[in-house]
Amino acid sequence: MKLTVRMRLFSILFGTLLLVLLAPGSSSARTEQVFRLDGGNATYAFGVNERGELQTLYWGGRLGPHDSVPAAHSLPEWASFDSPNTNTPQEYAGWGAGLFTEPALKVTFADGNRDLVLHFVRATPSGAQSLELLLKDISREIYVTLHYSIDPESGILARFASIENRQKQPVVIEQAAAAQWTLPPARYTLSYLTGRWAGEWTVNQEPIQGGERVIESRRGTTGHQANPWFAISRDDSQNTAGPITADEEHGEVWFGALAWSGSWRITVEHSQLDAVRVTGGFNPFDFGYELKPGEHLETPVFYGGYSDHGLGGASRLLHRFEIAHILPHAPDPKPRPVIYNSWEATEFNVSEAGQEAMAEKAASLGVDRFVMDDGWFGQRKDDHAGLGDWYVNSEKFPRGLKPLIDKVRSLGMDFGLWVEPEMVNPDSDLYRKHPDWVLNFPGRPRSEQRNQLVLNLARSDVRQYIEGFLDKLLTDNDIAFLKWDYNRNWSEPGWDQVPVDQQRRVYVEFIRNLYSILADLRQKHPKIEIESCSGGGGRVDLGILHYTDEVWPSDNTDPFDRLSMQDGFSYAYPPQVMMAWVTDSPHWLNNRRTTSLSYRMLSSMQGSLGIGANLNNWTPDDFATAKRLIADYHSVQRTIVGGDLYRVISPRGGSEFSASETVSGDKNQAVLFAFTHSTQEGRDFPLLQLQGLEPDAEYKLGWIEGKALPGTPESASGAWWMRHGLQLDLRGDFQAAAFRLDRQR
Ligand code: GLA
Repeated sequence: MKLTVRMRLFSILFGTLLLVLLAPGSSSARTEQVFRLDGGNATYAFGVNERGELQTLYWGGRLGPHDSVPAAHSLPEWASFDSPNTNTPQEYAGWGAGLFTEPALKVTFADGNRDLVLHFVRATPSGAQSLELLLKDISREIYVTLHYSIDPESGILARFASIENRQKQPVVIEQAAAAQWTLPPARYTLSYLTGRWAGEWTVNQEPIQGGERVIESRRGTTGHQANPWFAISRDDSQNTAGPITADEEHGEVWFGALAWSGSWRITVEHSQLDAVRVTGGFNPFDFGYELKPGEHLETPVFYGGYSDHGLGGASRLLHRFEIAHILPHAPDPKPRPVIYNSWEATEFNVSEAGQEAMAEKAASLGVDRFVMDDGWFGQRKDDHAGLGDWYVNSEKFPRGLKPLIDKVRSLGMDFGLWVEPEMVNPDSDLYRKHPDWVLNFPGRPRSEQRNQLVLNLARSDVRQYIEGFLDKLLTDNDIAFLKWDYNRNWSEPGWDQVPVDQQRRVYVEFIRNLYSILADLRQKHPKIEIESCSGGGGRVDLGILHYTDEVWPSDNTDPFDRLSMQDGFSYAYPPQVMMAWVTDSPHWLNNRRTTSLSYRMLSSMQGSLGIGANLNNWTPDDFATAKRLIADYHSVQRTIVGGDLYRVISPRGGSEFSASETVSGDKNQAVLFAFTHSTQEGRDFPLLQLQGLEPDAEYKLGWIEGKALPGTPESASGAWWMRHGLQLDLRGDFQAAAFRLDRQR
């Protein structure tokens, strides 16, 4: 199949290039050009219209190999108010010539001209499944290279742009998208994720109506408040006026995710002519990237995909793609070690003896990795001091970290450590020495959050300092893992060491330096693994996930709250990267909520498992329960974190019940988790009809926790589990069950 795709693409590109060579600049020749990318179950096609614009032609289910896509023709003016370039769905529209829809690119030239009209110059194949297209302004020397590649397995496209100034004067880029996507005219429902600290991953769903929905972060970082992901489901009941609901397992869904950990923006626009357009890239708010002659700016990558199996199908494709292409150890990242983390148990009160005692208890449970959180460095007694001073606190660890690390290693675990490299407390040696290293506007107040300021990582000296201390920490100590935290957002984002016209580059250079430090550290210390944390899920995106092995989805570890958060998280990111700790009950956040240890364990076992409870307070029974469930988890972990996820019953919207299922890629195993919130009136747990099994294969049922109502077979066909289904014996408040199905040979 791959070969056909490649041949088809080459023949298209060959044809394209021929046309350009034979008739350079001739618009009649250009209009014949259609570019087509096929992968998975998707086809993406665009072409050059008679005006020279690059126009979207098709994005949807895969077309036949010999089907042709009609050539591009720009849409006419609508009365005298909407111009052809506003009406025509362009692949990457410059702001100029009366463009009223969202532009991909907006610039100001040195002479004050702000008109930019991008026309096609040429296309070059850049690989078997990728293309580069050059656009240029109609008169000025501004060039844009659009990069496209399609993943042959999932059909997910990766798109980004590179903008080059070949003028003799600087040009300021005020808005630069990675890509614009156009969907066929229809009625749609938009899904997107919002939140706040301790309340991330809320799924919002709403009909797409006239106007524009903006999802964004202006915070200098990805943010808890919105996540750079979207999904758009086609509404099948086009002729009804009733409520629109996106379907989990059926129907067409277009989705995308932006790989950027700085201020970002995605707009979903329903135009005056009913076109739906998605534009995403750098957030234009306070943006202004000056390009000197000869310089270029590369945008982040915007990934986009298509599924005709509903939102569930969309997230399964995205998970597979992230595991196969995004993560540092793609295509085969190892399941995450089961960790113990000290934060909720000891907070800042860490010491050699205390951590060693905890490590012994953690090891007895079968934990693989012991992570010491905040509090080990500088004068860190609480969150008022110490950030920036990355030396070991000699009162807490008089002999350094080595004895603790040796102890952890001798217990058969590896060792991880918490750092927050981009931050500084004003009460620190670093700040006293370098007060100018933080983001600030001279003479203006420096707003603190959690008593800390943000180091300006765009500066090369700051970059060097951060990489230097991290490199030394990893060189001097046997550290397998860093939990890389980032506990506030930007304020006063000034950078006064560079000329005024360069200062807004901070939005880009900060993030690029962050990525390059992570890349350098990984290269120098190939065994290191890293978690991206930002007060929970404030920095989760496909940009950071290229350099980090896992993320911390939320500081909220309440096992019931986590069910809906994990459900929301799973729309965009795979269980593989989703760390989930079991912590104490009653929980500190919803402080009267008490849950059993097995409920908490099962809630966390849906992702990459960790223990964050104070083991000093555990009973022998607790140890026995956790040990048993960790062993069970280890035995099915690959399926849970790397399999196909089905959100069987959503916990959202005040549901009394929830259930999720994962099926291994070879369909040899399925694992199902089920939870109640509070059943009412004696109602039974809903019938569970499993999904994704091989109908003709025989599967044996194995209980991890709980049981089914009498009469459930111990073994049955995939068809039985999927069609007849089983009924759990699960009622009451905060109850949980889990089982596995193993294929019999
Ligand atoms: C953040 C993290 C927590 C913990 C604390 C330590 O809030 O999300 O997990 O590491 O910082 O200060």
